[in-house]
Amino acid sequence: MTTAPAALRTRSLLAGFGSTAVLQAIDLTIPERQITAFIGPSGCGKSTLLRCFNRMNDHLAGFFRNGEVLVHGRDAYDPSFPLEELRSQVGMVFQKPNPFPQSIARNVSFGPRMAGVRDPAVLAELVEASLRRAQLWDEVKDRLHASAFELSGGQQQRLCIARALASGPQILLLDEPASALDPIATAKLEETILELSREVTIVLVTHNLQQAARVAHRTAFLYLGKLIEEGETAAMFAAPRERLTEEYLTGRFG
Ligand SMILES: Nc1ncnc2c1ncn2[C@@H]1O[C@H](COP(=O)(O)OP(=O)(O)OP(=O)(O)O)[C@@H](O)[C@H]1O
Ligand SMILES: [Mg+2]
Repeated sequence: MTTAPAALRTRSLLAGFGSTAVLQAIDLTIPERQITAFIGPSGCGKSTLLRCFNRMNDHLAGFFRNGEVLVHGRDAYDPSFPLEELRSQVGMVFQKPNPFPQSIARNVSFGPRMAGVRDPAVLAELVEASLRRAQLWDEVKDRLHASAFELSGGQQQRLCIARALASGPQILLLDEPASALDPIATAKLEETILELSREVTIVLVTHNLQQAARVAHRTAFLYLGKLIEEGETAAMFAAPRERLTEEYLTGRFG
């Protein structure tokens, strides 16, 4: 059991598309200011679960959901919880870096500008602070007005993290953020994520078990839409409680 306060929680969460249930009765508590990894074979529902936390599935054809999703105790699906507010609290970074076709600075200031911040000094400060937190500042401080596409893949991914951070989220959802990166860029990204977890709650979907072992404080193993096992990463990797978890961790399927 975890003693840290819960950042995210699901209760009897069931979700799917059309007539197919993709997640079944998920009860999961994700503590604050830690990294929790979601692992499991392709198609087991990791992304669908991740996307329930900021309602990114809602616009997908046939999506349905039952049960609760709580963000710092607040029902994410409560109609009185404005979607923009939820998304600014729960930021997201995807598998493929997706900077906007704009300058580095404008990418980072996008969220605050959309939220109505106009003062250039305030925006410049937010840009610098967010780039520093994403550990990208030193690499880009002399070319803030260059196109974001001039950055390497790893830098673009850290830019996307900076862009998410600029809106002030307490929670960051990362869906296989390093899968398109080489080992050096991956190591840098992992360092950034670990540092960020001191102040932000991070949920990290990964196919890379070594990555989960390196950075995740806790790990949740999903299989066929069910949460099979969740706990401290080191304990789970050393001695999984469930046979399915052990088979997955030892590479017998996946
Ligand atoms: N938009 C959608 N419409 C219909 N079915 C979907 C949709 N998105 C996902 N699914 C189905 O939901 C199931 C879970 O998909 P999901 O993307 O959550 O898995 P995943 O664990 O993230 O897989 P991967 O590791 O390959 O990314 C799969 O069977 C998938 O085909
Ligand atoms: Mg996925």
